[in-house]
Amino acid sequence: MRRVYVLNGPNLNRLGTREPEIYGSTTFADLIAACVAEGADLGLDVEVRQTNDESELIDWIHRAQDEQAPVVLNPAAFTHYSYALRDACAMLTVPLVEVHISNPASREEFRHHSVISAVATGTIAGFGIDSYRLGLRAVAAGLEG
Ligand code: DQA
Repeated sequence: MRRVYVLNGPNLNRLGTREPEIYGSTTFADLIAACVAEGADLGLDVEVRQTNDESELIDWIHRAQDEQAPVVLNPAAFTHYSYALRDACAMLTVPLVEVHISNPASREEFRHHSVISAVATGTIAGFGIDSYRLGLRAVAAGLEG
């Protein structure tokens, strides 16, 4: 089975209790289970990780490149300002799907720009936890095509 990494940036470990009116009541544990189940349906070996540490997230992107494993990435707040994460993503030669639970374009101005989008294969935002399922589907479709 093809390995796919679902990588999550800061504060996403607090899903379920973090601003539920924006991010919903699904917990991070629920998110892991949903991604692993979706991956199994798609024939993908999904590994979900979360960190609050920019350097750790960058190391995981490097590892995905070394393993040639596609990435579904919710960069969280790093989306809007981390050029270091963007540079790591720009190195990827495997598919990279940027996902967001909320729709940043409909929120505060500082969320309107993503420094990651230009180096991602594509972006899915605003569908709650389903953004991840759709991201995994996009990866699976890309691998088939
Ligand atoms: C987010 C949107 C970001 O603006 C925010 O900083 C997050 C979560 C989302 O999934 O909607 O932490 O990436």
